[in-house]
Amino acid sequence: MIQLNALHLGIEPHLRDAAAMGELARVAGEIETLGAAPVFVDWPKRPGFPHDPTRYERFREDLVRGAAELQGAAEAGDKDAVVAAYARLDASCTACHKRYSPTY
Ligand code: HEC
Repeated sequence: MIQLNALHLGIEPHLRDAAAMGELARVAGEIETLGAAPVFVDWPKRPGFPHDPTRYERFREDLVRGAAELQGAAEAGDKDAVVAAYARLDASCTACHKRYSPTY
């Protein structure tokens, strides 16, 4: 999951940078892939997971959808849509960590 952080932080300064749209789309695709990786999907099924997992999947879907939207918006060069998709993506990190990550 630490891989998510570098990708995520790398995006933020370039949201309205027309020259970075191709790179934004590529990174968004990587986040989408990480968000669908088995280690992430199955995290709440680990023995001893200490929380009710009900909302985990919803937050994970927000992450994957936000990344997919970001990729599409960057490919289209639509800066407002890029910013909106990033906001959704970013909210998923915070929402999930608040409930599920002991390190945040
Ligand atoms: C669906 C839930 C969920 C979402 C969405 C999520 N995370 Fe996490 N994240 C976790 C959990 C659970 C841990 C705790 C892992 C552990 O205990 O080692 C974690 C840990 C981390 C860590 C701490 C390092 C580590 O590997 O433990 C970082 C950094 C991180 N996440 C970044 C992000 C970023 C950036 C995003 C959004 C782009 C994000 N996460 C979205 C669940 C999520």
